[in-house]
Parts: sequence; structure tokens; C-alpha cells
Amino acid sequence: MKALLAALLFLSAMAAAAKPAFGGYESQQEAADDADAMKKMDRKTLFAEWRAANGKAYASPAREAAAFAAFNAAVTSVIAHNSNPNAKFFKGLDEYADLTWEQFAATRLMKGISPAAAVARGAAAPKAAALPKPGRKLAQTPPAAWDWRALGKVPAARNQGGCGSCWAFAAVAALESKALIDGTTFSGDLSEQQMVDCVNSALGYSSGGCNGGYSSDVLNYVAKFRATTEADYRYTATMGTCQEPMTGHPAVAGSLTVAGYTTVTASKAAIQSAIYTNGPVVTYFNVISSFYGYAGGIYPAAGCPTDTINHAMLIVGYNFSAPVPYWIIRNSWGAGWGIEGGYIYVEATNNSLGACRMYTGLYAPRLTSAVSNLAAEDVPAVAVAALRCAWPAISCPK
Ligand SMILES: *[C@@H]1O[C@H](CO)[C@@H](O)[C@H](O)[C@H]1NC(C)=O
Ligand SMILES: *[C@@H]1O[C@H](CO)[C@@H](O)[C@H](O)[C@H]1NC(C)=O
Repeated sequence: MKALLAALLFLSAMAAAAKPAFGGYESQQEAADDADAMKKMDRKTLFAEWRAANGKAYASPAREAAAFAAFNAAVTSVIAHNSNPNAKFFKGLDEYADLTWEQFAATRLMKGISPAAAVARGAAAPKAAALPKPGRKLAQTPPAAWDWRALGKVPAARNQGGCGSCWAFAAVAALESKALIDGTTFSGDLSEQQMVDCVNSALGYSSGGCNGGYSSDVLNYVAKFRATTEADYRYTATMGTCQEPMTGHPAVAGSLTVAGYTTVTASKAAIQSAIYTNGPVVTYFNVISSFYGYAGGIYPAAGCPTDTINHAMLIVGYNFSAPVPYWIIRNSWGAGWGIEGGYIYVEATNNSLGACRMYTGLYAPRLTSAVSNLAAEDVPAVAVAALRCAWPAISCPK
């Protein structure tokens, strides 16, 4: 019986090894080998395997045919790209491989957000004081490589779905990491839907829900009001009516607020220092078609133009010891996208625009504070840091 089981396990392992990995490549060799395996397979069979791996079902034969056409084109592109021995990054067939670039961009990227507008919004008050200068006693020379994930300060990547709400996801992700770094008591999962519904023109912000917005608006809003929990305000990937906090919705345990944010100077060294001394940093980005199928390697600065921005993400670390220095960036397209559960490595450039204009809007949230069961809209933002120690439920540093 045991031998039979072992034989079966062996056979299924063999079968699994023969299947393409579809992504998560750690070297050019891996990507090229997978491209070879794909090349030898019938496209319909490959599609069936990819569908099974991604749990895909289609509402009609017409939808399925359109999905197959997009997938087939993606396979051709992946094989050509990954077979190139000089490829700097690798493409894969992730859960979005059945969407054309146009379909993907229309539902997930921001529209009408210009770099100039982003900079102007980021300069809107209230911001926090500048980041702490490296102290004399406490040498804070940033190490050549740093990754907040290794310290357990980055929750699992989320999925924004078919809504251009990356700006809310990036800001909320920055707040979650900052709270973990600060040791602030919170739910561990804050609401993005609250930002999609509430951070808009009704409250004087310029963000527009699923069409796009500004992470700086979110940080200003949370400094003034609060960020509630995911359990209290669930994500729907659609634009709804604001339930929080203007309607008198009571603050729930696990909510938090923040003492503003700092805009990080657009230079590699300044970003490195901000990440190391303060925590993960929000970044805007110009996503083009080669980006959405990313499946490994270091995405090169030469891979995209710097004329605009249409996405926002979170820089959680960097590695400048590598031959090509890179930023470790958390995306919000689910744990199946990119590498390491929803991440991408992007070349860290020395110029002031960054790869794909990623140095346009760099925001570092400052001190986070727990919100007890109290209406945060009654609390002036400036008093938030002091309140941190005023509430009995919160343990304060002595
Ligand atoms: C940085 O990259 C180098 C070279 O690729 C690698 O050996 C090292 O492990 C990386 N460091 C970290 C902290 O990821
Ligand atoms: C970027 O700056 C670093 C540190 O000053 C330097 O070692 C490196 O050669 C520069 N890279 C490029 C591509 O200019």
C-alpha cells in the first residue's frame, strides 16, 4: 500500500514537473526552459491547463473564444520574450493572461492622473514634519539591502479587482506597514473601500474612486478622520456611498489614524533612507503592456516611458548589492501576480524621475495611532500624536 502510494506520488510529481510553471521565474534559464515547454504544447491544451490552474470559467462560448485569443497572443509574446538570453525580466501567464492589454488597462489603471496634478495634490496640507535626521549616537546609515517583509511588517498583497483604486490600496498598505513598525494596535487589515467611497470631492479631495485618485489624499483623510477596518467596511471594487465617518458611523476597534505624511525627495538615496528609517513608501508608476505580465527578473527603467503615471504601489525594500540595484515593490493585483506573492523588482535609477516615473509621488506616513471607540472626526489631527498615550487601552512607550 505504502509502495503504491509512493509510486502514485512519484508519478504525479513527474506529471507536475512536465507542466509549465506559467511564471515565478528566478533565472533566465528557468524562464527559457518554461518557454521551451510551452512551445512544444498544443495551445488549446496549454489553455486548458492554465484555466485549471487559475480556476477560470467563461459565461459563453464567445467569451471563451475571446479569452483564448488573448491568451494565445500572450503565449506567443511570453515565448519570444523569455527565449531571449538577454531578457532582463521575464513574462508569464498570470491570472490576467486572458485579457488583452486594452481590457486590463481599462479596468485596473487610473485615468486622467497627471504627474503635475499628483505633485500638486501631494503638496496639499496637512503634512507632517520632515523625517528624522539620522542621529549622531544612533548611526542610521542605511544598509545596502533592506526588506520590511523579512521583519514581518508587510501584510499579504491584496487585490484591487476591476477598479482603478490602486491609489487607495497603496496608501492603506503604507499605513498597515507603518502601524506594524510602530507597534500600533490595529486590526491588521484596514479598509480600502472606505477610501474609494469617502475620499472624494464631497470632502474637498480630488480623488475619484475607481477612476483613479491620490494616495496623498488618503493619508490626509486618515490624518483628519480615521482608517476603519476591512471587517467594518468590506471591499467591493465598485464606487459606493460613504458610510464612514461622516454619517456618524462609530469608530470600531482596530481602526487607526496617522500624524500626516512626509513627501520623500525624488532621489535614490533619499528613498533608501526613508524606507530604512521610517518604513515603506508609496510610489506612483507608469504601467505599460510589458508590466502586467511580469513574472520575474528586474524590470528595467528602459522598459517604459516616463511621460505619465497611471498606477500606485508600495516600495517595501531595496537591494543595492545586486548587479542591477532594485526596489522591492508590493502591487495590489493579488498574490498570484508577479513574484513572491504579488511583488515586482524594479530597477533603482540614480535620476530624479525613476524607472517608469516612479519618483513622482513618494509618500511616507508618519506615526500611526490606534483609534479607540470614539468619534475620530471630533479629534483635531494635530492632537492625534498626543492622544496616543491618552487612551487607557493603548500601551504607551515610557
Ligand atoms: C541582493 O542581491 C544579491 C545579488 O543578486 C543577492 O546575493 C542578495 O541575497 C540580495 N540581498 C537581499 C537582502 O535580498
Ligand atoms: C548610481 O550611483 C551609484 C552611487 O553613486 C554609482 O555607484 C552607480 O554607478 C550609478 N549608476 C549609474 C547607472 O550611473
